[in-house]
Amino acid sequence: MKVKTAKSAGFCFGVRRAVDKVYQQAAIEGKQVYTYGPIIHNEEVVKDLENRGVRVLHSEQELADLENGTVIIRSHGVPERIYHIIEEKNLELVDATCPFVKKIHKIVREQSQNGKDIVIIGNKDHPEVEGIVGWCSTKAFVLKTEEEAETFTYSGGKSLCIVSQTTFNYKKFNKLVEILAKKGYDILVLNTICNATEERQKEAQQIASEVDAMIVIGGRHSSNTQKLFEICNQECENTYYIQTLEDLDVHSLQSMSCVGITAGASTPYNIIEEVQNNVRNEL
Ligand code: F3S
Repeated sequence: MKVKTAKSAGFCFGVRRAVDKVYQQAAIEGKQVYTYGPIIHNEEVVKDLENRGVRVLHSEQELADLENGTVIIRSHGVPERIYHIIEEKNLELVDATCPFVKKIHKIVREQSQNGKDIVIIGNKDHPEVEGIVGWCSTKAFVLKTEEEAETFTYSGGKSLCIVSQTTFNYKKFNKLVEILAKKGYDILVLNTICNATEERQKEAQQIASEVDAMIVIGGRHSSNTQKLFEICNQECENTYYIQTLEDLDVHSLQSMSCVGITAGASTPYNIIEEVQNNVRNEL
């Protein structure tokens, strides 16, 4: 009887690093800790941090109104102006921007300084993209769909530097770049997609193809967990989508000889571990 838990289950490197930083800061006595936006899309984690005194700032105004404290920037990163506010207000900064996102900030800043306009392939409403836009000193355009790429016209007379939101789909990115390339602009393409999501999906698919039952842990509304479930379900018909251990009837696994486990990007490790231990005890 075996339980196979995906190594890439749950938090990616950047999110784990950011969440760890918040817990470290919260453990320092006498510190008032704020995160600029919820550190992760997981209510339980945010609530747990709140119980440890960590407050969430919901807007630039709330940040500007602070008199003192420690501000943690989450893995998505923020526009350059947010750093200025923190500095001007003399607040302590803990920067948990994922290094892969930081790299994009550096690229767009340098390319802007070199006179290029920037095209970001991604979702304009996503905080990561808002952050990237905030590091461009020349024009920044955000394109998400093939249609947007088709209708995009540029008459700025400069070269264009094209980057991507880290979690954008690789095939779609290539498709949009292909459309833009046909328009004859002078373009520099830098693929800045992070492969954490793809690796999680590939590993889940691999494990699901080898087991009798597969458990996918994650929030009901988490789109990356839904995607994981779909992928696993195609490989293994006994795939269960659960949010926590409570949703799982472990007895139904008794007849299985091998069970796989994976989890979406915002599932904390303790939930994965709890499921894993209980399944193991049952087998
Ligand atoms: Fe995660 Fe950083 Fe990639 S936050 S998805 S490791 S860009």
